[in-house]
Amino acid sequence: MYEFSSLSMDVDKPCLCFDDDDDDDDDDGMNDRGELCRKIGFTTWLPVRTPRQHYLVRGNIRPKLSGQKLQTRYPQEPLKSLDTLVSRSTQNKTDRWIFHRISFQPQNPGGLPVRVHRVTPYDSHQKNRNLKKGPMLRKRFALSRLLSTLRRMAKPMAIEVYNPNGKYRIISTKPMPGTRWINLLTDHDCRLEICHQKKTILSVEDIISLIGNRCDGVIGQLTEDWGETLFAALRKAGGKAFSNMAVGYNNVDVDAATKYGIAVGNTPGVLTETTAELAASLSLAASRRIVEADGFMRAGLYDGWLPHLFVGNLLKGQTVGVIGAGRIGSAYARMMVEGFKMNLIYYDLYQATRLEKFVTAYGEFLKANGEQPVTWKRASSMEEVLSAADVISLHPVLDKTTFHLVNKESLSLMKKEAILVNCSRGPVIDEAALVEHLKQNPMFRVGLDVFEEEPYMKPGLAEMKNAIVVPHIASASKWTREGMATLAALNVLGGVKGYPIWGDPNRVDPFLNEDATPPSACPSIVNSKALGLPVSKL
Ligand code: DGY
Repeated sequence: MYEFSSLSMDVDKPCLCFDDDDDDDDDDGMNDRGELCRKIGFTTWLPVRTPRQHYLVRGNIRPKLSGQKLQTRYPQEPLKSLDTLVSRSTQNKTDRWIFHRISFQPQNPGGLPVRVHRVTPYDSHQKNRNLKKGPMLRKRFALSRLLSTLRRMAKPMAIEVYNPNGKYRIISTKPMPGTRWINLLTDHDCRLEICHQKKTILSVEDIISLIGNRCDGVIGQLTEDWGETLFAALRKAGGKAFSNMAVGYNNVDVDAATKYGIAVGNTPGVLTETTAELAASLSLAASRRIVEADGFMRAGLYDGWLPHLFVGNLLKGQTVGVIGAGRIGSAYARMMVEGFKMNLIYYDLYQATRLEKFVTAYGEFLKANGEQPVTWKRASSMEEVLSAADVISLHPVLDKTTFHLVNKESLSLMKKEAILVNCSRGPVIDEAALVEHLKQNPMFRVGLDVFEEEPYMKPGLAEMKNAIVVPHIASASKWTREGMATLAALNVLGGVKGYPIWGDPNRVDPFLNEDATPPSACPSIVNSKALGLPVSKL
């Protein structure tokens, strides 16, 4: 499983920003600016538009993910978070500024930049950066003051505190579903602080300020960038444990955590069926064109039954393909085989013996009842699954080997009317290639829960009628989300108290039983071996 965590962008060369009050002169304005930009030697531009302003930003804009750089040119949306800053600065009647190196959270359009390293008036840049005293300098100082204020404002403020006199200070960077996790912590002498900051994704700076000088453990989210900086800060504050409220932890630099002696928890064992159910829902919705048909009804376009209206695919007797037949992939395969009598083809490095046995037994049952038996096949390559299956669901872990696993070439192997579902991690699919494929093949359909550069979609995807898109909700059932919260809290509690590690992180039922005290163990710590933590005998 893979998820972009805190995705920060560096405009690592000077940016040029223009004020523009005139809405109507887009083209001329852009040309003038283009001309000016050429004169001062900037060559590549990303125009960002708002109703009142255009900003031309120079620089190679690259998303950074745990030190990796992807060669992706960003859509316009992320830069919108500059608007607030620039429109405030232009209130000072200064119309050109150069922003040197800006890091910010694109997931929070309209939010404040996390960091602007230096801002200088455009004229100073032009005049050999030889700005001395005078109005421009005053404006520059005024702007720096404004920036410091903005930076301060970007810090989280809304904190809800439970059990203020608790001995261990635990932070949760977000409110989480249910109350059991709260009670479990407060019953065990924890002072719990829940951040209610409205911002969807907290920046590293936000979390550092939450951690403060003393903090024993943090429950964090998969959207946050848990790397060296945060683990160093947590360690400095006396912290011992961190848990993602997720089974996937690609937002976490586990080596960095280990280096600082911090246990990293995740939440396996409660997402399997919920995630598989969403993959099955997307498969059904895509095969029967449910979202398209719903839109049609709501638009008042239905004026009577027609033989060709929203004709889709019958699943029964077709082949379901699963790439990655681990827990979730196998659960999905069972649902599709058992529920819709589909044949199975799967690709996995490991043999899914239990799944094979299940399909065999079910096939025999159908046969004994006079029905066509279902079959299974373990493919020798992913390509074999892609070309043979009618519905394909992706369930691999995201790593270097599975990045853009589905790309232009692999899409071309698939049937023209195939259905592709992705509830794993967005970058498993080359989304731009997928958009092209959807355009070329109107009967090819996709159901996507995850996106390559979340929360954004690649240009064109939102317009595709043959794509169903939902906002990373595969684990969003009440039972699962409450279970995830409980497991994350118990990971942190156990880490802080020095509990041993639960023997099988996939069998976590004893931690979820509301009527019993959970075992004194950490349900799932991914770096327990590296940290040499003892295994529970329970
Ligand atoms: C996870 O836990 O990794 C899921 O993606 C959350 O839905």
